[in-house]
Amino acid sequence: VYATTTEMPKRQTPGRAGGFVDEMRAVAMKLHTRDQAKEGEKEADSPPVSKWEPSVDGYLRFLVDNKLVYDTLETIVQKAAYPCSHTEAFLLLELEKSWLEGSNPSNAEFRNTGLERSENLVQDLEWFKDQGHTIPEPSVGASYACYLEELSEKNPQAFICHFYNIYFAHSAGGRMIGRKIKLLSCLELLSRRHKLVLRPAPGSDYTPIAPSVWCSVHVAEKILDSKELQFYKWDGDLSQLLQNVRDKLNRVASSWSREEKDHCLEETEKSFKYSGEILRLILS
Ligand code: HEM
Repeated sequence: VYATTTEMPKRQTPGRAGGFVDEMRAVAMKLHTRDQAKEGEKEADSPPVSKWEPSVDGYLRFLVDNKLVYDTLETIVQKAAYPCSHTEAFLLLELEKSWLEGSNPSNAEFRNTGLERSENLVQDLEWFKDQGHTIPEPSVGASYACYLEELSEKNPQAFICHFYNIYFAHSAGGRMIGRKIKLLSCLELLSRRHKLVLRPAPGSDYTPIAPSVWCSVHVAEKILDSKELQFYKWDGDLSQLLQNVRDKLNRVASSWSREEKDHCLEETEKSFKYSGEILRLILS
């Protein structure tokens, strides 16, 4: 059972859009576990991020599948809306017409929001390739990509739910994960250089490091700092970009009936299911 307008607490947080986005957020926050976010209500079925021991290969799989999902979302919003006058539309090649068929005009609102991740992920994957890593093929993300394609044509409210959760999750929990990965890749680099086996001390989030390698920690940190992944970088003020998208989401949803809104909220669980599968690739 999902929260509806009447059940929603009044949000006081400055910078929030209010409106339907607050409803989407409230449903999403409840689907977090307590260790992921303080508003979370779900039982944890995997270790908290602070206890993760990811590998570079697992993290690469996660990036590749994310890229496929972002490519799909960004192509869907680019092709949205009929481009021109009837005459111009008439002149479109059959191929282009079929490409545009079924696209939802209101998705055009979400073009060039500044939150796009696809190009940034291309750069990150190139960087990993240059470091000698083999870039894997996408795996679980492929079925999510197909599902998003299907929704974009047949189920605009459900599509918007995924759009919101994917971009907003990455700007919040995703960045938290990014910071953790950065620390771990720094340690992995060190352990390879110094032929050490580094494991977190029992009950601690931090890996013990001998004083002799501390100077290298700073070096490694510097290398990784200058190579900070583009996936976690945005051009411009992220909170403003997010706010602009919240406003657009509220505008689009303002024409929806209560049933359509509830339908959108009900899709949140699926969004967590698919994104959760991609997230778990980090630990694979
Ligand atoms: C927000 C953590 C997974 C969707 C947040 C916040 C945190 C967080 C700390 C910020 C809460 C606040 O504003 O006070 C995490 C962690 C995750 C995770 C650690 C996994 C390890 C997910 C997943 C989804 C998701 C799988 C959905 C696909 C969202 C959304 C918000 C959010 C929509 C609201 C963002 C906003 O209002 O700006 N998450 N999350 N999260 N998360 Fe997650």
